[in-house]
Amino acid sequence: MKFKAILCATATLLLVACNNKTVQTVLKTDVPVRPAGQENVIGLTTEPLETVRVGVVGLGMRGGDAVERLTYVPGVVITALCDILPERVAASQKFLADKGLPAAKEYTGTEDAWKALCEQEDLDVVYVCTDWSHHVPVSLYAMEQGKHAAVEVPAAGTLEDIWALVNTAERTRRHCIMLENCCYDFFEMATLAMVQAGAIGEPIHAEGSYQHNLDPFWKAYAGNWRLQENQKNRGDLYPTHGLGPVAQVMNLHRGDRMKTLVAMDTEPFNGAKMSEKLYDKPDATFAAGDQTSTLIRTEKGKTILVEHDVMTPRPYSRMYQIVGTDGYSAKYPVPILCFREFKEGEEVNAHTVGTEKVYRGESVNEMLAKYPSPILTPELEALAKEVGGHGGMDYIMDYRWVYCLRNGLPMDIDVYDLAEWCCITPLSRLSIENGSMPVEVPDFTRGAWDQVKGFSYALAK
Ligand SMILES: NC(=O)c1ccc[n+]([C@@H]2O[C@H](COP(=O)([O-])OP(=O)(O)OC[C@H]3O[C@@H](n4cnc5c(N)ncnc54)[C@H](O)[C@@H]3O)[C@@H](O)[C@H]2O)c1
Repeated sequence: MKFKAILCATATLLLVACNNKTVQTVLKTDVPVRPAGQENVIGLTTEPLETVRVGVVGLGMRGGDAVERLTYVPGVVITALCDILPERVAASQKFLADKGLPAAKEYTGTEDAWKALCEQEDLDVVYVCTDWSHHVPVSLYAMEQGKHAAVEVPAAGTLEDIWALVNTAERTRRHCIMLENCCYDFFEMATLAMVQAGAIGEPIHAEGSYQHNLDPFWKAYAGNWRLQENQKNRGDLYPTHGLGPVAQVMNLHRGDRMKTLVAMDTEPFNGAKMSEKLYDKPDATFAAGDQTSTLIRTEKGKTILVEHDVMTPRPYSRMYQIVGTDGYSAKYPVPILCFREFKEGEEVNAHTVGTEKVYRGESVNEMLAKYPSPILTPELEALAKEVGGHGGMDYIMDYRWVYCLRNGLPMDIDVYDLAEWCCITPLSRLSIENGSMPVEVPDFTRGAWDQVKGFSYALAK
């Protein structure tokens, strides 16, 4: 009984268990019934497009760069530009003119000018680079108008919005692509190829994060929207850079799926100070912790750790660590590869460490070069590095979805990836607000998570 009392003081669930009552050990999340008449969009292909006509909505830091980058992607024509601020539309229009490209139609001046852009006839893709609050309405309206949506990260921040994107993509049979550029970084692509070649055995644990001190950026976001999002919302608000590349390695909804997660955060020690610094009238409440950690367990018994920290001087890191049964790949803090090398009969003593074969420095690149990504050619890699955008990964990302559209192929990142990677935001919040209780991760495919066996890129014959 004494033992029981100690447990009861710290763990209500254990107390309930002691008393043989029903215990709720996991918070359930609903999977809404698929509306009649629609099917999943796994492997969705659409009519091949020789020329891909793109309209960009939101021409701030990210959208302005996207316009420039897209002009280097074969087959793309930018036919529409939209920003609530006319000077931003004018700047992108000038870029097109200076490059000798045709002028795009302009939409500006009103909060919903993007609606007319989505309705424009000579347009195939609406490319959304606004603040987070516009991602979902613009993407939904684009799909309703028969356009594909390509939307910046994170595409959505609530379960309601995520399901709306899934349902609309399924009903309209349009692609809803999330622009997760980190899936196309060269280290991550080579590691994916290495894992798929079986070089680290079975991947059983992975880590991914967004650790990026945003001090120099806060003021640059139009209307201070990004700090406000952190001020209003608790949980991991930017999970997709960390989770996207490891989700591809872990074959999420391609043979495995996230089943439960638990999350914990720190107090907003720096966040609250930052809001005092940036606002005339500081608001004492600040929701997002400086550091948020989410631990996910999959159906097949694997784990993934995702972290978010935009408030401390911790060096930039996306962690990207893949632990396999026979090897290990990590990109941060410094690239390293390890492979099991211990041989039966080898002598050990109490001080024996490091029997594995470790690669550091240039030897990491030499090893990874043995596993070329099937989507890269030397010419494409060189062009991507020349055009730039986070070292070239932004270009490869745009190149890929355009290539898939032009060839009528399924997307690398589909609406279920979008849903799975984005749901970490509302579900980490739910766990944190319930004492870090485990939360069920919905199956956004509604039963089809095992239909495809393993992640692969679609390639034209
Ligand atoms: N993938 C990446 O590496 C990466 C990097 C940075 C930002 N992002 C994402 O890109 C998006 C944009 O971020 P940013 O840094 O460019 O922010 P930003 O504030 O510089 O740009 C947002 C733009 O949206 C415009 N906008 C706002 N309301 C609008 C409306 N109603 N109609 C049309 N335009 C409107 C603003 O005027 C502004 O120009 C965000 O989702 C962000 O998370 C992704």
